Amino acid sequence: MKGVILAGGLGTRLFPLTKITNKHLLPIYDLPMIYYPIQTLVNAGIDDIMIVTGGRNSGDFLRLLGNGSEFGLKHLNYAYQEGEGGIAAALSLAEHWAAGDSIVVVLGDNLIEGNICQAVTNFREQDGGAKILLKEVPDPERFGVATLSGDRVTKIVEKPAQPETNLAVIGIYMYDGTVWDIIGGLEPSKRGEMEITDVNNHFIADGTMTFEVLDGWWTDAGTFESLHRASNMVADGGANKVGD
Ligand code: DAU
Repeated sequence: MKGVILAGGLGTRLFPLTKITNKHLLPIYDLPMIYYPIQTLVNAGIDDIMIVTGGRNSGDFLRLLGNGSEFGLKHLNYAYQEGEGGIAAALSLAEHWAAGDSIVVVLGDNLIEGNICQAVTNFREQDGGAKILLKEVPDPERFGVATLSGDRVTKIVEKPAQPETNLAVIGIYMYDGTVWDIIGGLEPSKRGEMEITDVNNHFIADGTMTFEVLDGWWTDAGTFESLHRASNMVADGGANKVGD
């Protein structure tokens, strides 16, 4: 199992903070944002990791993280995303490196309080396909929103004006090696991006998507409000930090 962290994009919702640097290098309380998704993967026992970055100051990731020794890693892999083609476009840059293995994808601006060990173990034991993690939120219209029927996800709608549920799809996804063909067949959405929600809806249509509800807090950090909240949550309640 390999891990991919997506830390590209232009972070326009955080202008002017992101005018001169990459969003994932901004501080969340006492650490750069990118530390948290790396630790999420390391805590789940995943030590073969690629960081897909892009935009401004991408070279700073190398200076900051080097080979990942601070996280107990032997090496880190990097890829560069030109432009801002969407989450699925950024993920496609990891195809060659993943070489058909199953992957855990973490969005670079997603932080969790706990860990995903059990979910990763359960995914390893399922017969391929994909797994998503859900969390109840007060503002589902900001996220991909899942509709359930019994123990199955029946659909995900990206940022719906009128959400059917308050179950956000968090930015941690598990896929088998069929994900690359799915991405290859995607068309850009109305906003011109290759959407991860379209990838997930493919697995749902195939009947191979499972889900779990995440324990503990979760937040993204891509807006001023959520960036502020993320820092407060880390300061107040800790997170899966280096050395934990
Ligand atoms: O945080 C969870 C949400 O993340 C999900 O509920 C949504 O379904 C999913 O689409 C995504 O929504 P956002 O609009 O918040 O995604 P955003 O554009 O902020 O991108 C999140 C991360 O993905 C960002 O920190 C870096 C990476 N990314 C994004 C884009 C657009 C890339 O690496 N390249 C890109 O081109």
